[in-house]
Amino acid sequence: MSLAPAARLVESAIDVTAPARPGAVAASIASVATGTDLDIAGLCKSFDRDRPILSNVSLRVPQGQSVALVGSNGTGKSTLLRCCLRLIEPDSGAITILGRQVHALGRARLRRLRAEVGFVFQRHNLVAQLSVLSNVLHGAQARHSGPRVWYQALAPRPLREEAMHCLELVGLADFAARRADCLSGGQSQRVAIARTLMQRPRLMFADEPVASLDPNAGEEVMELFADLIRRQNLTLVFTSHHIDHALRFGDRVVALRKGGIALDAAARALDAPTLRQIYD
Ligand SMILES: Nc1ncnc2c1ncn2[C@@H]1O[C@H](COP(=O)(O)OP(=O)(O)OP(=O)(O)O)[C@@H](O)[C@H]1O
Ligand SMILES: [Mg+2]
Repeated sequence: MSLAPAARLVESAIDVTAPARPGAVAASIASVATGTDLDIAGLCKSFDRDRPILSNVSLRVPQGQSVALVGSNGTGKSTLLRCCLRLIEPDSGAITILGRQVHALGRARLRRLRAEVGFVFQRHNLVAQLSVLSNVLHGAQARHSGPRVWYQALAPRPLREEAMHCLELVGLADFAARRADCLSGGQSQRVAIARTLMQRPRLMFADEPVASLDPNAGEEVMELFADLIRRQNLTLVFTSHHIDHALRFGDRVVALRKGGIALDAAARALDAPTLRQIYD
């Protein structure tokens, strides 16, 4: 297949490091002050020696930018996100998140860093038998320890109010007392997003955050998620197989193919047919 148009985009003068959405002007200004939130340099990962999954992948994401990471099944998108937080240990390369060199961190510091970075998975991983509010409260485990962040009934008032506020942001304040296993898939994913907001992250990774939802719920949750990210000027790297989502919710689209980055372009400079080529 020919990736010619896409390749041209990679080489074009498009400034993929600049946030594209209008609301990201503040983020752009902030990036001058705070710089790059995620810097991946020369990342290599293979699970068996003969077949590298990621070969020398480098990517810089400035503060406030939303990056859609796309590519066919098995191209290493989830592996890349997980390597960033060393949920999967990279073979080599340097990763810097929020100014900290992830590859050099000891256990305790790595745990602290992970707590500052939101991670939304395809499956929400809520604690089924606990209330929605308790689940959201768990996001504060990054900042507090012990039973007061396990159960809503034991939580100090400010934390409980903050958790309620996060639930309000995802439109589920009325569900606070409900058990998590009584929610629909879309509601569960909203609660998972609220829990991540409770972490007060600056940087978010989301691995196919709406893949398990039906088209309507997926659309609704992705719009809500992207809107929250935008309003809080958070940096986001998300994976998706929805070309439409990548173009609408990413400022920038990065495509993986054959272990490397096959396309890196501003979303506004791409269209669906061009992007679809990376799946050919
Ligand atoms: N823990 C593991 N052990 C061995 N191989 C793995 C492991 N995790 C992932 N892989 C392999 O690495 C490759 C990349 O997987 P990864 O899940 O990162 O792909 P992906 O781009 O996220 O795919 P998808 O679009 O299906 O989610 C796949 O071939 C997969 O089988
Ligand atoms: Mg994946």
